[in-house]
Amino acid sequence: MLAHATHLRLFWALVLTVLTTGCQLSPAQPDQSLYQQLGQRAGIANIVEDLLYLIVDDERINQAFKGTDVKQFHRNLTDQLCELSGGPCTYTGRDMRKLHADMAITDTQFNALTENLILAMEQNQVPTGAQNRLLKALIPLYPDIRHL
Ligand code: HEM
Repeated sequence: MLAHATHLRLFWALVLTVLTTGCQLSPAQPDQSLYQQLGQRAGIANIVEDLLYLIVDDERINQAFKGTDVKQFHRNLTDQLCELSGGPCTYTGRDMRKLHADMAITDTQFNALTENLILAMEQNQVPTGAQNRLLKALIPLYPDIRHL
């Protein structure tokens, strides 16, 4: 009888905890996808546009982009980031390794571009967690771009 009463007390304590902490017995909502957090393809296109302005103003890397077809770069980088973030896009640009092969890109240049991408995401109110997730998704491309 005593054991029964104890169990009953524990049961009501649990019910009370669930009610007061807002704990849900149903499964939690899945995390918003990175693609959604970036604002879908339109949001990513805005980020890439702002990135382009930052590149033009950045003495560390703007020389490398002289003569670049801006429209093509914008479309291809937007598709690439859209695909990498889980969006319904397919990158149809050139092979990353071949494309960056003759540029002898330094770590300083790579970091400069990354810095500008972070700034462009900031300008578009992308939450810090989502910024980091996109940067993480770009890590596998590093050896191709740096040609290691
Ligand atoms: C996170 C790092 C980077 C990513 C994800 C990236 C990605 C890309 C993409 C998707 C394109 C367009 C490909 C195409 O149009 O076929 C591109 C082109 C280009 N990238 Fe990168 N890139 C990165 C870093 C860099 C760095 C650090 C530099 C030099 C400072 C650089 C220089 C260029 C140039 C000059 C082009 C245009 C080439 C042309 O149109 O002839 N990239 N990159």
